[in-house]
Amino acid sequence: MLDGKICLVTGSARGIGRATAIEMARQGAAAVAISDINEEGGRQTVELVKEAGADSEYIGCDMTDREQVQALIEKTVERFGGLDTLHNNAGVHESDFTTDLSVETLPEEIFDRIYAINLRGPWLAMKYAAPHLRRSTRGPSIVNAGSTGGVIGYPSMNAYGATKAGLIQLTRCVAVDLAPAVRVNTYTPASVDTPMVQKFTEAAETSEQRRAIESTMVATHLIPRLGRPEEVAKLVCYLASDDAAWITGAVFSIDGGCLAWRGSNA
Ligand SMILES: NC(=O)c1ccc[n+]([C@@H]2O[C@H](COP(=O)([O-])OP(=O)(O)OC[C@H]3O[C@@H](n4cnc5c(N)ncnc54)[C@H](O)[C@@H]3O)[C@@H](O)[C@H]2O)c1
Repeated sequence: MLDGKICLVTGSARGIGRATAIEMARQGAAAVAISDINEEGGRQTVELVKEAGADSEYIGCDMTDREQVQALIEKTVERFGGLDTLHNNAGVHESDFTTDLSVETLPEEIFDRIYAINLRGPWLAMKYAAPHLRRSTRGPSIVNAGSTGGVIGYPSMNAYGATKAGLIQLTRCVAVDLAPAVRVNTYTPASVDTPMVQKFTEAAETSEQRRAIESTMVATHLIPRLGRPEEVAKLVCYLASDDAAWITGAVFSIDGGCLAWRGSNA
């Protein structure tokens, strides 16, 4: 449970971020700050969080912009009176910007953008949140969104994979810097049913193509389905809760068994 905690979730206009913000409210958080570049989706999440019982406000922030990230932290603290939990959830994949996905074709500016959102953004957020988290008396912690793509190699995701691997290592390094005051953990989902993944099935032109894409996506999952955003949200809330008070610098798999073997059911 997150009784009374003040939380901030980046990239929470949809997907796992939205599901986590709602779950935080259900688990008793006092407030959840909703941040994204998508204002409409962010404001919808605010309403859902309020319905689930927590105070909430949308604070727009592009994670690539240092000043905006700093302002996001300051506004959260000012509006809600502190910060106890930072969920660094915002993240993008190169396929969000281009179809030239191999190392030979990926444009340099896309690599830079993925790096700025997936690795530098969470680093900035942790840097500016740290002094406030250190002042918290309600079990402060940071939870970072890793990925199986940061643990093993996948085709067509060299920027995504490298930045997620970086975020996993950054989690450990920041856990050392902030110990014992602030716990810092990460988790590594395989494919979860959110717009990030749905765009691949939506690109299918026939139902046969769609089925083929779906079965490829879950072929390496021992539990043969996509993860649900709500399942990831529950893990994030556990890591942020006082039940996880002795867990820091850790990497949690949440992947239907994907990383447990080197096989595929395809
Ligand atoms: N869905 C999956 O299969 C999966 C698997 C492993 C890890 N993850 C990670 O989980 C996190 C959430 O993924 P999701 O599937 O919910 O993604 P999503 O694409 O559905 O949502 C990502 C959110 O981030 C926001 N965002 C994008 N650029 C931003 C920026 N510059 N500044 C602030 N916000 C920005 C988007 O507007 C969006 O609301 C990501 O870090 C992702 O890498 C997802």
